[in-house]
Amino acid sequence: MHVSFASVSLVGLSCLSNLASAAPFSFADDPTGEGYPTPSPQQLMQIELQAHGSLPNGPSPASVKPDTVTSLQLIAFNEIFETAFFSSAIQNITNNVEGYVIPNGTYRDAVLEGLVAIRAQEELHTLFANNSLKALGAMPVQPCEYKFPVATLPDAIALAAMFTDIVLGALPAIQQLLAKANDSALIPGIGSVIGQEGEQVGAFRLLQNKIPSALPFLTAGTREFAFSALNQNFIVPGSCAIDYIKLPVYEPLTVMTMPIAAKAQTLSFEFPMPANCSTPDTSSYSLAYVNQQNVPVIEPLQSVTANMATKMMQFTAAFPYNGTTFGNGLTFALVVDGPTAALTSAAEVAAITKYGPGLISIN
Ligand SMILES: *[C@@H]1O[C@H](CO)[C@@H](O)[C@H](O)[C@H]1NC(C)=O
Ligand SMILES: *[C@@H]1O[C@H](CO)[C@@H](O)[C@H](O)[C@H]1NC(C)=O
Ligand SMILES: *[C@@H]1O[C@H](CO)[C@@H](O)[C@H](O)[C@H]1NC(C)=O
Ligand SMILES: *[C@@H]1O[C@H](CO)[C@@H](O)[C@H](O)[C@H]1NC(C)=O
Ligand SMILES: *[C@@H]1O[C@H](CO)[C@@H](O)[C@H](O)[C@H]1NC(C)=O
Ligand SMILES: *[C@@H]1O[C@H](CO)[C@@H](O)[C@H](O)[C@H]1NC(C)=O
Repeated sequence: MHVSFASVSLVGLSCLSNLASAAPFSFADDPTGEGYPTPSPQQLMQIELQAHGSLPNGPSPASVKPDTVTSLQLIAFNEIFETAFFSSAIQNITNNVEGYVIPNGTYRDAVLEGLVAIRAQEELHTLFANNSLKALGAMPVQPCEYKFPVATLPDAIALAAMFTDIVLGALPAIQQLLAKANDSALIPGIGSVIGQEGEQVGAFRLLQNKIPSALPFLTAGTREFAFSALNQNFIVPGSCAIDYIKLPVYEPLTVMTMPIAAKAQTLSFEFPMPANCSTPDTSSYSLAYVNQQNVPVIEPLQSVTANMATKMMQFTAAFPYNGTTFGNGLTFALVVDGPTAALTSAAEVAAITKYGPGLISIN
């Protein structure tokens, strides 16, 4: 696939969500034609053929800690969203939906071939996590209805790179939690998925005329960042139960500046006022940025104002981009409440996060 799309810069997914107006995506009418997410054995074989490979066929752990169940639930919850996304993209290209028309038939076939394999691979990731949950006697993950804040193929590719980067932050955090819980048997399988998702992002980046690999060390995340971003941006609220997954969904933080250039600058943000419309005391709040495997960058909230018409709190903060220690690739932005001097990891940021993650993607 050597034809490139126009380069698009995707920042602050929440801004783009204004575009979402189409009917939500649902698995109810079997859009994959393979009975997914409950394929029969014959349908599973079809999925494995499309995926160019199979589910792991060795034994899975007989028991795991409750926190490991939460990790498996988050993985299944994310992968079923990804399956929905790629199914919708395939439908749009196949049906020549406006914004998704690829006039060159050779290239169109190559894109579809790649996306069909990626979708099937995501289906197997989901089924692996879900089957493990069932074998452990834990609650498997039900599908939701989904919305995608994009309406063109270049935007869809940029969004796919963004949400895959988010999960690439969460999976190493999950590996560490598995190690701490003594559930290490699952770590190699998750490592194999990290590499697999990284291959996908490399392809999505080439399609955007970017260099294939964004950073020497990809941006760290947490399960909380990923679960919040998924629920804030892609899940139709109320379309599925989420409360059995023991992870918080933060209130959103939207990056209003867009596009964001690769330079040091001041960015604008907003987050919702509390439900009682009182103006919160933000004096103990800070903005934490998480980028690469580096210590979080902390900036004060500046020019904090309450917009009573939109019921949003608005502020600005420095974004001290310098292209090496800070700013390229994915950056998570979080409004935290508490002392920040000793923060060294994404997990420590997550523990005091109130609003987020704002999403910034550069180069
Ligand atoms: C997980 O398994 C349950 C029970 O078979 C099924 O209803 C659900 O759709 C599956 N979810 C995923 C994400 O595969
Ligand atoms: C498919 O097209 C519809 C209609 O434009 C759009 O709402 C949806 O976001 C698209 N899906 C993807 C994955 O790009
Ligand atoms: C169509 O796409 C193929 C594969 O990417 C490429 O080799 C070919 O040059 C393209 N044809 C035109 C007319 O652009
Ligand atoms: C993991 O194993 C170590 C060493 O046996 C033990 O000290 C620790 O309590 C275990 N952790 C959990 C969460 O079971
Ligand atoms: C409004 O709600 C916020 C957040 O729940 C709370 O901290 C604050 O005390 C409430 N203010 C009033 C006036 O009730
Ligand atoms: C780049 O910016 C970060 C964040 O402000 C800072 O910690 C780091 O020292 C800077 N690196 C260089 C090489 O200037």
